[in-house]
Amino acid sequence: MQEPTRKSAFPEDFQWGVATSAFQLEGSPNADWSTWDPVLSDIPEITNHYAVFREDLKLLKELGVNAYRFSIEWSRIQPRPDTWDDEAIAHYQEIIDILRSYNIEPMVTLHHFTHPRWFLEQCPWHRTASVEKFLRYTEKMVSTLRNVRYWITFNEPYVILIGGYLDGCIPPGLRDVPRSLVALKNIFTSHGKAYDIIHRYIPDAQVSIAHNMSVFAPWKKWNPFDRLLKKSANYFYNHSVINAFRTGVFIVKFPFSRAVQIEVPIKDKLDFFGVNYYTRIHLRFNPFKKMGVELRHLDIDGHGLTNIGWEVHPRGLAKVLRYASRLNLPIFITENGIATHDAEMKVTYMKQHVDVIERCLKDGLDVRGYFYWTLIDNYEWLQGLDARFGLYRVDFKTLKRYPTSAATYYAYLIKSRSKI
Ligand code: GAL
Repeated sequence: MQEPTRKSAFPEDFQWGVATSAFQLEGSPNADWSTWDPVLSDIPEITNHYAVFREDLKLLKELGVNAYRFSIEWSRIQPRPDTWDDEAIAHYQEIIDILRSYNIEPMVTLHHFTHPRWFLEQCPWHRTASVEKFLRYTEKMVSTLRNVRYWITFNEPYVILIGGYLDGCIPPGLRDVPRSLVALKNIFTSHGKAYDIIHRYIPDAQVSIAHNMSVFAPWKKWNPFDRLLKKSANYFYNHSVINAFRTGVFIVKFPFSRAVQIEVPIKDKLDFFGVNYYTRIHLRFNPFKKMGVELRHLDIDGHGLTNIGWEVHPRGLAKVLRYASRLNLPIFITENGIATHDAEMKVTYMKQHVDVIERCLKDGLDVRGYFYWTLIDNYEWLQGLDARFGLYRVDFKTLKRYPTSAATYYAYLIKSRSKI
């Protein structure tokens, strides 16, 4: 796809990156998730990234990115409550050192869905002790890892809450509203305190969460229940977190129930805001479904549905970036990507979303970075190995990596939109 010649709106120091998460690339024998999904028993090392990471990091150079978001697998660092694994720490330090030698800015995620198994057994998020355990791990990381400025404490805390405590599809697999509220308090309290710890060790650190934002629409516009659901979901997903960072209070209001207020020590505990954006979701009121909600993806704009059935809806990115801008902080798109075998569809998706960012920059939004999800095909939490988000295709039999035309296109896009 040829780029028109024109003046780029992207600032010189714009971070062009890709995002990954440790578990999805490398698994971990001590992680709660490794026994959660039977698919992993056949392929516990997933892409074998833990062993061949040096080769994979070379792909970043090939792409020409200047930033890389990756996560640390907590269960490798602290396989037992009283054991720190120095080799694992050295492993992640080597990733950072390699990135620095390539002039690539590391952005480190401390928690990307998985936990050490002991954590889930002894003190999952609905237990108060969870906070102290997470903070010990955080302190260990920020006091030992060198040369990291950008930190994400939690990836998508709402997914942990919805998937782990309301829907039960991810660990700890509960369907328990009261516990979900305690977990919310503990996770965000952990963020607030981790923010202070990180700044104590690294005064110029930039700290955020990566929040999943989505656009919602009523299934049938004429249906007042569908419209009500849209309003509640939009408030809950896109606004309640932003408000809580501004006020220190979460107002949680599930459809058809009373609002609950939860105080959390996170007021102003953000240096930027990380936004993960993928899709739009249509909502339908259905009294036979959990909480009366049915979710659907409809191909309204005609851009097609992805491999995992998600709607491609680039305009939605502008909407969520505008919501996020209410925080008056720099925004990073910490994830955006598409699951498809069709590399051309991937190219179009990426171009459409980057075009939206460019328009937002022209409108004055303070967007500082774009991280494509993801570098190589990996394990997708609920869909296994065939989601295919990667710029590089992985043959899961031989574990060989192959560039797709989307990798070539991203390299080209970075060059053509950068001012450098
Ligand atoms: C995000 C998540 C990633 C990845 C991606 C694609 O919600 O942070 O780990 O799985 O979705 O589904």
